[in-house]
This record gives sequence, C-alpha cells and structure tokens, in this order.
Amino acid sequence: MAGHERFRFKNQTAFLDKARSLGLEIPFSQDIGILFEKTQIAGRTLSNRLASHPMEGADAEADGAPGELTLRKYQRLAGGGSGLIWFEATAVTEAGKSKERQLWLSKRSLDGFKRLVEKTRSAARRSAGLDHDPLLILQLTHSGRFSRRSGVRAPVIVHHSPILDPLLKIPSDFRLARDEDLDAIQEAFISAAKLAAEAGFDGVDIKACHGYLISELLAARTRPGGKYGGPFENRSRFLVETVQNIRIVVPETVVASRLSVYDAIPYPHGFGVNKNDCQKEDLDEPKALIQKLVEMGISLINISIGIPSHKPHLGRPFDKPVPGTSIPDEHPLVGIDRLLRISGSLQQAFPSLPVVGTGYSWLRQFFPNVASAVIKAGKSSIIGLGRESLANPDFARELAEKGALDPKKTCLACSGCSRLLRSGGPVGCIVRDKGVYRIGKAVSDESFDKAR
Ligand SMILES: Cc1cc2nc3c(=O)[nH]c(=O)nc-3n(C[C@H](O)[C@H](O)[C@H](O)COP(=O)(O)O)c2cc1C
Repeated sequence: MAGHERFRFKNQTAFLDKARSLGLEIPFSQDIGILFEKTQIAGRTLSNRLASHPMEGADAEADGAPGELTLRKYQRLAGGGSGLIWFEATAVTEAGKSKERQLWLSKRSLDGFKRLVEKTRSAARRSAGLDHDPLLILQLTHSGRFSRRSGVRAPVIVHHSPILDPLLKIPSDFRLARDEDLDAIQEAFISAAKLAAEAGFDGVDIKACHGYLISELLAARTRPGGKYGGPFENRSRFLVETVQNIRIVVPETVVASRLSVYDAIPYPHGFGVNKNDCQKEDLDEPKALIQKLVEMGISLINISIGIPSHKPHLGRPFDKPVPGTSIPDEHPLVGIDRLLRISGSLQQAFPSLPVVGTGYSWLRQFFPNVASAVIKAGKSSIIGLGRESLANPDFARELAEKGALDPKKTCLACSGCSRLLRSGGPVGCIVRDKGVYRIGKAVSDESFDKAR
C-alpha cells in the first residue's frame, strides 16, 4: 500500500506524475468552465455546480438557535458564490445533539433560523459578479451513539458494534433504543422538516452518514427483531419512511440525504462493505437504498464514506491528523480516488439523480481541474467542498473571476477544524481565519469583531 505523504506539488505535472506513480487515474481537465454551467435540482436552477458541504460549527445559542459565528459563517459562504449551501448538522431533538452548542431546530429556536436564512439570502444577493440565488439545504440529524447531554455522553444506539462500542466506552449490556423510541425520533425529523420550510430553507437533508443514528440503522443487521433491524428492508425503513412522510407533509420542500455508503466496519456490523473484506466497498445495498429513495421522491444525494471517529481519513483525506490519532498508511490520493470511484459509480447508476461528490479539499488549487473532469465524465453533478469552504469561503467567486485558486488561501488539510470540533467548538479555520478561531483559546468578541 502506498504510504501517507503531505501535499507537496510545485505544479500540475508533479501532481499528475504522483497520481500516475500510485497507479491512479485521477481525472483532470484544464477547462473548468463546466463548474459554472447552471444545473437543475427539483425544478430550481443553481447558478453553478459548486456547493459548500455541511460543516458543524458548534456555535449555537443555548436554545439551539444560530449564534453570531453561525451567521457570520453562512453570510461569508453566501457572498462566496457557490450554487448550493448545505447547512450543517442540526439536531431534531435536544437528546440528539452531539455537542452542547450544536444547532437544534425547534419551535423555540425557529426565529433564529428565520434570521439565518434571511441574512444568508441577502448576503448572496449583495455578492457582486455572480448571478445566483443559492439553494439552501438544512441537514437534519440525530447523533445516535454520539449524542451528549451537557457535555456528557448520552448514547442512543440501535445495535451493538464490536468496533464502535469500545471506542465510545459503551458497555455490552447497554440498552438498545426501542422501536417506539425510533418512531418518536422519526416524528421529530418530520416536525423539524416542517419548521425548516417555515424558516425559509429550500430543502432538508435527512442525515444518514458518519455513524450517526440513521447511518447506524442502515448497518443494524444484528438488531434483534422488530421493525428496524435485520433484513435490508427493515434497516432502510427509517430513512425511506422519513423521506416518504416528509414528501407528504411538506410537499414543497426539496428532500435530500447525505449518505455514508461505505463505513469500513467489518460485516455484519458495517454498511456497504464487502462481506469478506471490509477494506473494500460493496455498493449493492447502497444502490438498492438509493433506488428506494428515488421512488419516494428524493431530489438530491450527497455521498460520503466512513465514520470520522473510527477512520477519519476515509471521508476527509488530510495532511496532518488530529493530535493523538494516527497517520493512515495510505496516500491521501488513494483515499480521494476511492471517494471519486464510489460517488462516480452511484452517479452512473442513477444518471438523472444529482449526486454531490465529496473529498476535494485536500487537492487545494487542483480541485477545480479534478472536479471539472469528474462532472464531464458524468461521475457527479455537483462538487462539495467542506474544509475549503471554512478556509476560503470565496472559492467559487475566486474561480469564476480569476479562473484559478490562490494556493495561499486554500485549506491545508491540517485537521485544525476537526480539533476545534472535538473540543466542543466553535469551529472554523485556524490558518486562514485565525483572527477568529484558535486552538485552545475561546474566541473573544474583540477578535471576532476585527475579523468581521
Ligand atoms: C470540522 C468538521 C465539521 C463537519 N461537520 C459536518 C456536518 O455537520 N455534517 C456532515 O455531513 N459532515 C460534516 N463534516 C464532513 C464534511 O462535510 C466533509 O464531508 C469532509 O470534510 C470532506 O470534505 P472536504 O475534503 O471538502 O473537507 C465535517 C467535517 C469537519 C472537518
């Protein structure tokens, strides 16, 4: 296996030579015009094919409403010109939060979310040079086994995992959530989708990735009996019915889902894994799931892989790991190739369903070339940027105006934002936005005002 290396490429030739030496065919296009072609989602026109991925900030007010830093982040992103803004993980119940200051949408916090949408839309309108009205999707979540109350773990688990239970110190006799508990959580997703529409979002994402509740349900083969465990039909029931019910109850809203289609947890406890070798994906079940979601009227999917607390490099290839965690024995380009292959395979299986691809921030100034080639090959419709959108929220505007990204502004994949998230937030870029975000230091009002 090719070992880990940091991003050190003087130019395109060096980058492409490295990919070739690793035996990878990373697609690459000099012409990046396709990124600025308009595209349609559920009858709405996006002014370009660039998206900011959901990036949790852990900067909400005590009642879950967006805080000042939340507003700042989305106003900057809206001014930055991407066609789609995918808002971060927002809990549908208090018990479903994974951080004290995670966003939480409820009747109490609704006005704060209305303000967030208004401020985001007006920042987009003010942004010069790009004719766009970005699609605003809010990610709805229940954190499942990663839930916390007042900073203390309060897991909600649907099956026992020999890999994840020890990682989170969950005892083997810990009580599983009952079907009735899950039914109530499903109701909370539907109520939150109604509130999101009331707040002015164009759509909602029913989060089914990264090991959180719905993602865990997809892998609940060993869950005993009942509605939600065992056969694929039961494991996919929660997500499929949630989408179906939201389509009925809030028909005007766009329904999307961010899916972890491969979690690298050994069978029978993982999802999208090869039965004999969890290092390899098996996309049969993810494809069957997406087929069901299409039948229920889903308009958009966003593909991710992995569970960050288990193998963070799978979903977010990095240069430096979070301190105290290990460096993978895998070149980041090998990880990017896997992400491109998997989302490409799903886009090709569902050519008329827009797929948002993941895994581009590590590529820095070369991401637009790779992204354009991926879209041209029909292997994703929209390209999402996570860490890059914190480092350089103007990436879409910069590309539209200058045709290239300034390497001095890009994300360095240093895991600084992940460190901030682990320590409870607030989360942002410690390199490119260091006036506001610093490791080990609370953000002072003064530094925040300066950076504004
Ligand atoms: C600090 C941080 C917060 C994140 N928050 C979310 C989130 O709220 N929801 C989600 O689906 N993914 C979240 N992710 C994953 C990103 O959306 C994205 O998939 C990942 O960073 C890989 O994309 P990139 O290479 O462009 O950064 C987060 C990642 C990081 C590092």
